[in-house]
Amino acid sequence: MAFAANAAEVEVLHWWTSGGEAKAAGELKKMLEAKGDKWKDFAVAGGAGENAMTALKARVVSGNPPAAAQIKGPAIQEWGAEGVLASIDDVAKKDGWDKVLPPAVSNVMKYKGQYVAAPVNVHRVNWLWVNPALLKKANVKAPTTWDEFFKVADALKKAGIQPVAYGGQPWQDATVFETVALGVGGADFYKKAFVQLDQATLKGPTMVKVLETYKRIKPYTDKASAGREWNLVTAMVINGTAAMQFMGDWAKGEFLAAGKVPGKDFLCLAAPGTANAYTFNIDSFVMFKLPNKAAVKGQRDLAETLMSPQFQELFNLNKGSIPARMGMDMSKFDECGKKSAEDFKADAAKGTLLPSFAHGMAMYSATQGAMYDVISQFWNDDAASAQKAAEKLATAAKVR
Ligand code: BGC
Repeated sequence: MAFAANAAEVEVLHWWTSGGEAKAAGELKKMLEAKGDKWKDFAVAGGAGENAMTALKARVVSGNPPAAAQIKGPAIQEWGAEGVLASIDDVAKKDGWDKVLPPAVSNVMKYKGQYVAAPVNVHRVNWLWVNPALLKKANVKAPTTWDEFFKVADALKKAGIQPVAYGGQPWQDATVFETVALGVGGADFYKKAFVQLDQATLKGPTMVKVLETYKRIKPYTDKASAGREWNLVTAMVINGTAAMQFMGDWAKGEFLAAGKVPGKDFLCLAAPGTANAYTFNIDSFVMFKLPNKAAVKGQRDLAETLMSPQFQELFNLNKGSIPARMGMDMSKFDECGKKSAEDFKADAAKGTLLPSFAHGMAMYSATQGAMYDVISQFWNDDAASAQKAAEKLATAAKVR
């Protein structure tokens, strides 16, 4: 009875509905319910959360926000400015979050100096996922440069194998595009273009080369790629329909959920030309201001759970990402996870740790949306000019 009296219902908005994602989200539900609270699932399917954000806005506007929602990056500041977020600073102080989070992460989680969000992971975006059996069939090695990549793709095509599995949705287009930009232009170029939104860089010759390289991938994809969900794209690499996918390491969650073994059934490689840099994407949950006390207790329990070492280990083993907390024991993680953790540290020290703009880490949502539009239009229109698209990117960067 005492247990029931303390039980709070915690409604959590997220978009983790694929095989690997749902397993990871299931661990969160279990841990929260172990504290005596009740998880109320508010799942809105759709990669990168575009649909989820639309659903969330409708709920908040009608004065009925969920207890918590998956919101990340600069969007946390946008929601903070709306005056609808609840502070979880007391939980953060009690559990010493400032000591276990790198400042680059904790700063994003605070609004006006107070924690309003809890980070759960670090996803790396600049990966290439490979089916090694198919490469073997075509007698080629995994590519590390763009020249090698196109040679490998040609060889696969000749061997009757589809080289690239692709999902034509705006956020996926942007995900592949930013990885190409990093590989072709390098970390400084990436920073100038997508973090500083430097006009000359956005419409300059390197960007034109990036756009051209991105478009060169298209003939190696299949005609049915338009609108395909990212997890179905990963499934093509898993079941041997296609050889490679550019995607963040939530794709690893799919391979693992399908019982595949890294290094054997699939390879996780830095995308061509990107071995010396790291585009990061951090998932986090914000809490909304709610009127009743029980709900607030549930939010505190959730915040505590999200940042606990036990949760960060178990969740990320399923999700494909690594813990956001520093100093975690990585021994249970596979080689992809260990590599991600090592590179995260090394790239942070070198200044080559870069926010993924496709995943809401670098710009405000309106700017990001305008960039998405330019990239997808360019991908879908076979006659589009790279020079003109670069100019449009520069214009998109001014959208606020
Ligand atoms: C999120 C991941 C999610 C992926 C696909 C990304 O933006 O950060 O957690 O798995 O989108 O939905």
